[in-house]
Amino acid sequence: MKIFLRSYGCQMNKLDTALVSSALGEAGFSVADSEKEADVVLINTCSVRQHAEERVFSHLGHLKHIKKSRPGLVVGVIGCMAQRLGDKLLEHEAVDIVCGPAQIPQITKLVTETLQEKKKKLAVSEKIRQRSPESQTQALERFESAYGIGDKQIPGQAFVRAMRGCNNFCTYCIVPFVRGPETSRAPAAIIEQIKRLADEGVKLVTLLGQRVNSYKYPAPPRGGAGKKTYSLADLLEMASEIEGIEWLRFVTSYPAEEFFDDILQAIADLPKACNYLHIPAQSGSDRILRAMNRRYTAGEYLGLLGKARAVVPGIAIAGDFMVGFPGETEEDFEATIELVKRAKYKNCFIFKYSPRPGTTADKRLEDNVPAEVKKRRNIELLDVQNEISAEMNREFLNKEVKVLVEGLSKKPHLNRGGSENSPQLVGRTATDYIVVFNGPVSLAGEFVKVKITETSALTLFGELI
Ligand code: SAH
Ligand code: SF4
Ligand code: F3S
Repeated sequence: MKIFLRSYGCQMNKLDTALVSSALGEAGFSVADSEKEADVVLINTCSVRQHAEERVFSHLGHLKHIKKSRPGLVVGVIGCMAQRLGDKLLEHEAVDIVCGPAQIPQITKLVTETLQEKKKKLAVSEKIRQRSPESQTQALERFESAYGIGDKQIPGQAFVRAMRGCNNFCTYCIVPFVRGPETSRAPAAIIEQIKRLADEGVKLVTLLGQRVNSYKYPAPPRGGAGKKTYSLADLLEMASEIEGIEWLRFVTSYPAEEFFDDILQAIADLPKACNYLHIPAQSGSDRILRAMNRRYTAGEYLGLLGKARAVVPGIAIAGDFMVGFPGETEEDFEATIELVKRAKYKNCFIFKYSPRPGTTADKRLEDNVPAEVKKRRNIELLDVQNEISAEMNREFLNKEVKVLVEGLSKKPHLNRGGSENSPQLVGRTATDYIVVFNGPVSLAGEFVKVKITETSALTLFGELI
């Protein structure tokens, strides 16, 4: 039996896809290269913006078509939309399985049963904000720790979950309602998993959590009695000791002062901890930040970036912003532009506010910024950031950078004299800069040195040394 998997979401979602793929692989399924040759199609979904859900519905529309000629095809929807829409999604003609993020340990069973019984299956959490039963957490832990290398999308790299869920309740955000309460995984389980990944050749591990800098886990100290609360800094330190692991990153950070001192110090002290932070600000207007339930001001946020740069000189910082939050005026937007200019991000992700059913912003505030205004602000902010990125990137000219090679470049950026034996490759620096150069594809998963010869706002181009 062949399975085709498609992921529409964030890194958390991609990690789940990798886990599901590895579980099904172990159960004897093989991975199909395309939908055409698949017996089962699993779509891992995201609910963060309406657009993300629309893409899934259009994929399902396409699958409905395919099922007309291949009625035996099994289609499963997993992930955040599965949890959000539950049985409503199961009513869709194309859908056979709906499985929420907390139920993925059941995926092999669900798929096998559906193939045999030809009956629709639903597995989601009924009360997602309730602390999950111990049995469910244990099932997730077992599922998670079985994660092998077989499914690696990018050679040499892996995501490892530090935390599940979120308790932050930013007023616009659906994540707490689809991923449940915030919980930290036991440090021993995380470290054990990283060790195994290292044994299998993983060099870069990215620790994941919606607010990963709040990682906290009470456990006895190593080799001793008593009590200790493990922090993200402790995880970084323990993971640093693992042979084979060369780079460690973590995403996403929440800009709260109280969580940062020891983490910044760990980045400064540990050579393997990459000098990189992804720390969304969302807005530069204090009024809007308050309405978003982001518990900091633009000034405090900038203060935190200043501290990060003082403790870790040269640290690369990436951000997220949202434009068109309810009530966002031109003045609020100007404040966001001002923040972006002062923050000097390496890059930023900019999103247009999308009301999510059930969130406080959707219940209490009118989505009153017109679509064309959101679009204009999005473009304007992106232009400001691109100019900053272009200028910062120029500083790399003629410099050598260390790059972890990912593989073939997906969008061949002009063909810079690539040949069959030396196609265009893409990789990233420790600080997450994208580097494009020519070389043999066998370098995927390896570290190389590249001399930068040309730069753009998004990419560094260079030559293999
Ligand atoms: N936990 C992370 C990521 C959350 S989702 C964090 O707190 O930053 C990733 C990004 O999607 C967010 O940073 C935010 O900018 C954006 N986002 C979340 N909800 C959104 C919504 N309703 N409309 C538009 N963008 C949204
Ligand atoms: Fe959503 Fe806020 Fe949690 Fe991030 S921290 S997942 S934006 S609620
Ligand atoms: Fe990620 Fe989207 Fe879910 S951002 S956690 S896949 S709602």
